[in-house]
This record gives sequence, structure tokens and C-alpha cells, in this order.
Amino acid sequence: MLRRLHLVSSAGPIVTTGDGKQLLNFTSNSYLGLNEHPAMKAAVVAAVNELGTGSGASLLVSGRLPIHAKAERTFARFKHAQAALLLPSGYTANLAALTALAGPGDLICLDKLCHASLIDAARASGAEVRTFPHLTTDKLQRLLQRHNSANASPNISANACGLAGDRRSPSDNARPPRRFIVTDSVFSMDGDTADLPALCDLAQQFDAVMVVDEAHGTGLLGETGSGLCEAQNVLGKVHVTISTASKALGGLGGIITAAQPIIDTIVNHARPLIYTTAIPPAQAAAIDQAVTLIQADPAPRQRVQQLTLRLRNGLKSQGWKLIPQGEFIIPIIPLVVGEAQAAVALAEHLYAHGILAAPIRPPTVSPGSSRVRLSLRADMQDDHIDRVIQAASGFCDGPIQPKH
Ligand SMILES: Cc1ncc(COP(=O)(O)O)c(C=O)c1O
Repeated sequence: MLRRLHLVSSAGPIVTTGDGKQLLNFTSNSYLGLNEHPAMKAAVVAAVNELGTGSGASLLVSGRLPIHAKAERTFARFKHAQAALLLPSGYTANLAALTALAGPGDLICLDKLCHASLIDAARASGAEVRTFPHLTTDKLQRLLQRHNSANASPNISANACGLAGDRRSPSDNARPPRRFIVTDSVFSMDGDTADLPALCDLAQQFDAVMVVDEAHGTGLLGETGSGLCEAQNVLGKVHVTISTASKALGGLGGIITAAQPIIDTIVNHARPLIYTTAIPPAQAAAIDQAVTLIQADPAPRQRVQQLTLRLRNGLKSQGWKLIPQGEFIIPIIPLVVGEAQAAVALAEHLYAHGILAAPIRPPTVSPGSSRVRLSLRADMQDDHIDRVIQAASGFCDGPIQPKH
């Protein structure tokens, strides 16, 4: 269970490790390969040449440069939202959003498999935090019903979902308690997707605030690549969306999209925004450029889907039982093997066959569901996929049988 830091030569599809071994990299979340795209590099270099390397201050002081404002406008349009707000990472964006909007007396309901950053954010908010079983709504409905009956309140949707204005504090009885439904759109360790229309219906029914973490959906799903909210046609029903630039966008940074009053509340109350320096201008330029590339060309997201299908079909034909995919093709394929040692053994087996893939163990996943997570990139070759299929099939015949 001991984790160690190790070095790889680059963040591309083929890497060399510290011991000089060349490996196919199935650990990168740069699903579209944008972290190595020439236009991305050019945008970053141009921003550095024009604006230097750092922002120099927090967004609220003097760290907000025209390139930040441009990236926020581009991103808000991409997400069909009124406004967007840049933060240093997806982790801090989740922390900023939930701690600014929720507080003691509020209820945050999370899908059981939500990302750790959402769980940490919910806990840090001081609200009551409850989980509901993955991809289900029965318990969620009961939780919302109970909070609703205990806190008869005016219709909070009337005021930008009641989200403008102060964060609730223990001594504050001025605003009605809020209810939040929080989910990942694409679940990072299982590669499956939320049923956002069902969750949005419940949010509407119980005047709850709908918050969606689109870390793994942004850039991949929907007609224009804006994410699962677009693909499931709920853009107007989700109040707060959090994206990260660290996955398909090939950079770093968190982006919250919401109505302007909600963004204003976050700007005024989110400590992870107020007390940290604005992202460097080059990162903002990368976000702006990535969105432009994603909107201009659907080919990379189609390519990564083809590769994903090739890998899924190949693994299944070798006897692997995969987590069912549902309607959307997600370039995250977990090979669930059970115990932590089995996941480490499978990762080592793949490593010996020239493939870099990460063993995922508790506490990231629940005990008994350890796995090796394969993530795919549009700039991989068919032959890379076939090598994994071959290597993993060898493991099927080994001493540890895969199971789900
Ligand atoms: C679902 C989800 N949300 C948030 C994050 C955090 O994003 P970032 O790496 O930009 O901090 C990640 C990944 O790290 C993630 O998988």
C-alpha cells in the first residue's frame, strides 16, 4: 500500500521511466492529446512572451489579466453559462464552489463515488453531508424530502436558486437552508456516467441546487464537446458546473460556470480563490486555446472513442468482465481485480510488457474493488491498444483471476 513518487520522461503517449524503460502510457488523462498539440504550445509560448510567467497576485487584487477574462468568456460560451471563473485547479474549484455556497444547516447529497475533491469540499463547507448509492435516486429522494419537510422554506429557485448572497453561518437564520445534489458527470475510477436528467428532476422537485463536476466530461461529450450536461440536454437545469483544464483540455486550472450572481457569491466568499494567486497567464491562454480546438474539430474525440471501443471489445473477447459502459463511450477502462495486491500484480505484469498503467487501491476505491485504470488518448495508435489487449490477456491465465 506504500506509494512512491516516480519519474517519467514526458506526459505523452509514449514515455521513458527512470530506469530507462520505454512504455506506452495508459495513465494520462489528456484524452485528446492536447497537452502536446502545436497550437496549444504556441498559445502558451505567446502568452509567456507577452505577459511573463506569473500573475503576481490573487484574482481579487491585481492577478486578473485580460487573458483570464478572455478565457472565462470563452469558457462560459462553451458551457452556455452566464459566467465562468478560473481557479488554480479542479480540486480548488470544487472546494471554492461548495464552501462558498453551502454552510451549516444546509444539506449536501453526494453520489457515493464522487471524486475526493467533492467529498473534501462538502465536508469543509460545514453542511450536513450525506451520500446516496452510486447512480441511484431512491435514497437521494428520501434525504431531500426529509430536509425539505424539516425546513419549510420559500422557493429558493426564485433568486438564482437562492445562491446569491451570504454563505450561511451557524448564527445566520436569515436565509433559508439550501439543499445540494452533487455528482461527477463521468466517474473517474469507473468510467460510467450520471443520469443527469433524473437528478435535475429531483433538484427541481425539491428546490435543490444541482452541482456537476464535469472533470472527465468536458472536451469529450456532447455535440460541441462541452460535456455530459450538453450530451444529456440539461444545460439549463444545472446551477453550478465545475470543469478542470487538467484532463481533456491538456493543461491545468479549474473553471466554475454558473449564473453571474452565483459567481459573484463565490468571488466574495471562497477562501480558495481569495487567498491564492491567480493562475499564470499562459495557463489561461491554454484554456482559451483548448476550447477553440475542441469546438473547431470533433475528430480527436471521435478518435479516442474508436480506440476505447477497440480496447473494450478486445478485452472482452479475452474474457475480461468490464464495468458496463451505458450510452456514452468513455476513455477510462478499469480492470477490476479485487484485492490491492492483485491490482499491483496486474500493473507490474503490464509494466513488464511495456505498458504503464496505475494500480488504484483503497482509499481511492472501496476495499475489494482494487483495479488497474487504463485511460486512453486520441494520439495513440491502434497497435498500442492491441499491445494492451495482448498483455492483459496473458494475465487472465495467471494466478489471479479478474473479477468485477
Ligand atoms: C472528478 C474529478 N474532479 C476533480 C478533479 C481535480 O482536478 P484537478 O486535477 O484539476 O485538481 C479530478 C482529478 O484530479 C477529478 O477526477
